[in-house]
Amino acid sequence: MALSFSSEGVFLCIFLLYLSLGSEARRSPVSSVVSEELFNSIFLHKDNAACPAKNFYTYDSFIMACRRFPQFGARGSLITRKREVAAFLAQISQETTGGWATAPDGPYAWGLCFKEEVSPQSDYCNSTNQQWPCYPGKTYKGRGPIQLSWNYNYGPAGEALGFDGLRNPDVVSNNSLIAFQTALWFWMTEQKPKPSCHNVMIGKYVATEADIAANRTAGYGLVTNIINGGLECGIPGDSRMNNRIGFFKRYAALFNVDTGPNLDCAYQKPF
Ligand SMILES: *[C@@H]1O[C@H](CO)[C@@H](O)[C@H](O)[C@H]1NC(C)=O
Ligand SMILES: *[C@@H]1O[C@H](CO)[C@@H](O)[C@H](O)[C@H]1NC(C)=O
Ligand SMILES: *[C@@H]1O[C@H](CO)[C@@H](O)[C@H](O)[C@H]1NC(C)=O
Repeated sequence: MALSFSSEGVFLCIFLLYLSLGSEARRSPVSSVVSEELFNSIFLHKDNAACPAKNFYTYDSFIMACRRFPQFGARGSLITRKREVAAFLAQISQETTGGWATAPDGPYAWGLCFKEEVSPQSDYCNSTNQQWPCYPGKTYKGRGPIQLSWNYNYGPAGEALGFDGLRNPDVVSNNSLIAFQTALWFWMTEQKPKPSCHNVMIGKYVATEADIAANRTAGYGLVTNIINGGLECGIPGDSRMNNRIGFFKRYAALFNVDTGPNLDCAYQKPF
């Protein structure tokens, strides 16, 4: 058997591989649902001089982060895919908003303005958690698009994504790729007894008996419950919950898709 490669052939192969990886880097099922132009029309003010996260959250880092979670925005019909991505962008907007009622372009045009929680009430260390022990001197306040918080989230997020979340939590607000990856990790990962936000938005959530007793029916309101229900759900008229809905309505319109039912969690019990 005479199988021989010329060195030029080997170099050509490596070069072609390099080229295909380069163009792959931007391609993700999500980039076909949200173009850079649409992304920029959603986040009109993220790079405003007044925003502490100015120039941090780029379209490219978002798309690159999506490649780590190939099922995100890639399950179900085109409508389902658009609705999931719109819901994700709306939730991270409320987590990072710099908007106010009379803000230019309205309160829902100011998502992705912050990358770190401004006046943390605590260091978000649950010291009774033995599995993810806090590292001395580190705090686990909200950071990144989903405002990842608590040692029991930084630990497993870092383990899944390849950084030391307990010793080096700051990387979530210093590296925009990791920042978006932590938000997607939270969105995609089921943390029992909660379902994943992803499964709720693609229609794969199956309510348990406890969920039925707690009014936890599928919809955007249930995603709010997963993210911050302890503070916002079961409180008719809660302004934070209503702002999450405000972002989602604006984005769903920009994606040209309906929001689906059950937008609020006003009558749901938190998990
Ligand atoms: C802290 O962790 C313990 C054990 O994991 C848990 O029972 C408790 O609810 C947690 N407290 C908070 C505030 O998260
Ligand atoms: C993050 O960036 C800030 C300021 O840019 C710097 O002071 C800090 O040391 C950085 N932290 C890490 C973990 O890279
Ligand atoms: C479920 O929702 C109804 C109103 O639709 C409310 O009266 C009831 O208290 C809710 N149950 C729980 C457990 O929150």
